[in-house]
Amino acid sequence: MRNKILAANWKMNLTLPEVELWVKKFNGFNWQSDTKEVRVYPSALFIPMLQNNFSHVGAQNFYYEPSGAFTGELSLEQLSSVGSSSVLIGHSERRELFHEDNAFITQKVKAAADKNLSFILCCGENLAQREGKTHLHFIEQQLKSALSSFDRSKLSLLCIAYEPIWAIGTGLHANAAQITEMHAFIRSLLLELFGSDASSVPILYGGSVNPENAASIFSCPEVAGALVGGASLDPHVFHQLWEQL
Ligand code: PGA
Repeated sequence: MRNKILAANWKMNLTLPEVELWVKKFNGFNWQSDTKEVRVYPSALFIPMLQNNFSHVGAQNFYYEPSGAFTGELSLEQLSSVGSSSVLIGHSERRELFHEDNAFITQKVKAAADKNLSFILCCGENLAQREGKTHLHFIEQQLKSALSSFDRSKLSLLCIAYEPIWAIGTGLHANAAQITEMHAFIRSLLLELFGSDASSVPILYGGSVNPENAASIFSCPEVAGALVGGASLDPHVFHQLWEQL
């Protein structure tokens, strides 16, 4: 049995003093567990200091080339060298605001797999796709493209996060029926692509997870945890999610 995962995606939030305060508050709660783990995805600036406090700190972004003239970018080699244990790939904010298309995301998956670095691959439909009932087809395309060159021998590196775009940062969240349908669909897709070994790939939910809706989200079959934005910025709120996982 793999651990359940509660992952904090801080996005472009928190300054150095705020991160220090976050850690202090975090340490005031009990996070001991044999069945679940916390992951923190801070601004990459804070990975070196946070890796002393957390067993799993990862990066929100990277560029897939190993080194070179790519001003402003961070490579996987650089991130690993300061303690990043994993990366996020395909987050809708990267896709939409920074124009990362499927081909680019496929390259990022390939780079992470080549480096044997674990990654959370995000997917999610927009509201028009949901309302037009093309959401399953869209997710299938996103995942098949991202994983087109991914080898089943690397499955232990893979974690999926289903994050409907219309639920991210909006206060709206997918309901239990929608999550159950999508998670079952993603599982069957993974089994089709990679065979029975894919049954252990964790599939997270993300999108306005909060202490009020967490219990119903976590009780959906196939939900192995959550990727949490807004509700991860306060350790007290984040811990309320942890207790319900
Ligand atoms: P949210 O963000 O929890 O603030 O909706 C989730 C995410 O984007 O990963």
